[in-house]
Amino acid sequence: MFDYPAYDAHEHVLHSSDPETGLRAIVAVHHTGRGPALGGLRMYPYPDADAALTDVLRLARGMTYKNALAELPFGGGKSVLIGDPGRDKTRALFHAMGRAVDALGGRYKVAEDSGIAVPDVDTMGEVTPHVAGTTADGSSDPAPVTAWGVFNGMRAALTYRHGSDSFAGRRVAVQGVGAVGRRLCGHLTEAGAELAVADTRADLAREVAAGVGAEVRAPDAILREPADILAPCAMGAVLNDATIPELRAGIVAGAANNQLEADRHAAMLAERGVLYAPDYAVNAGGVINISHGGPGYDADAALAHAARIHDTLLEIFQRAQGEGITTAAAADRVAETRFTPRGRAPR
Ligand code: NAI
Repeated sequence: MFDYPAYDAHEHVLHSSDPETGLRAIVAVHHTGRGPALGGLRMYPYPDADAALTDVLRLARGMTYKNALAELPFGGGKSVLIGDPGRDKTRALFHAMGRAVDALGGRYKVAEDSGIAVPDVDTMGEVTPHVAGTTADGSSDPAPVTAWGVFNGMRAALTYRHGSDSFAGRRVAVQGVGAVGRRLCGHLTEAGAELAVADTRADLAREVAAGVGAEVRAPDAILREPADILAPCAMGAVLNDATIPELRAGIVAGAANNQLEADRHAAMLAERGVLYAPDYAVNAGGVINISHGGPGYDADAALAHAARIHDTLLEIFQRAQGEGITTAAAADRVAETRFTPRGRAPR
């Protein structure tokens, strides 16, 4: 494992199996300098253990950067459960997973990720206290805080690009009006922006558009919409060789994870003069919300914390310009001022 390209001096990697329940899982704790590692559990039918290990190592490292950038009292970790979320979920499986998390003695706190729902986290919570984002802790719907964080990130991008964060007369194209996208549309309309929206669920697109006075576009056309800001709020890899040459927005800032198909697409955006708000900086409201969860959950405190994404993004944009690097690279450097990278383990 120490020779894996994705291995980055992770503090702990726990492989856990339980033949009785079918559990095959890996938990990776990348860094606990800021506090216990916080990150979701992903359930996916990985073809083999190598694929699962590579994924969990990369994702755990990403959480260290994300949590540090968002100034959370948490380090980075992640876990993967090999299996089909549509077929293999049982209570016994999540109890076994919860015990695996518990074995790390609080160095890792598990939350939801792809393939996992809040009730699954609740089930793990029956056997370990090291869970986050449960039904009981009040923070189980992260979308409002995520949308507020994206909105504030957009303000920073407007200020940086145009010298003012006013949305009056600005046009925003929103791809995906689900939990986050439609709330974002609400904030944007209130702030005076004009909107164009798209969703593969045409009924939903029409309903949201009617509520906020937006125009509806086809899902593939929204990326080419002439706009000040494009907000990808649906899925990953939307910024790629095919789409970047066709963009007609000066700023990209949205909630979707992994918007760049490959790292090199950050440079491609910069070459086209598009200001890219790194996804993991601008969509941190979700994890910010979870970090505020617990018995005294205070939604206003979580929203205020997410609004600080504005300042973080300004710092990222300024650093990118000052150092002549992409905004994606600058986000990593700003994050590295907020934790101490351990470097690779000696060979
Ligand atoms: P959601 O599932 O509620 O909404 C996504 C919407 O996008 C759905 O309405 C879907 O029909 C639509 N969609 C899917 N493919 C599309 C396409 N090709 N074109 C147009 N629309 C399409 O998800 P949610 O919670 O709103 O999250 C949106 C994105 O933000 C996801 O990528 C998610 O991983 C990411 N994210 C969400 C957070 C949260 O707090 N919910 C936190 C951080 C990231």
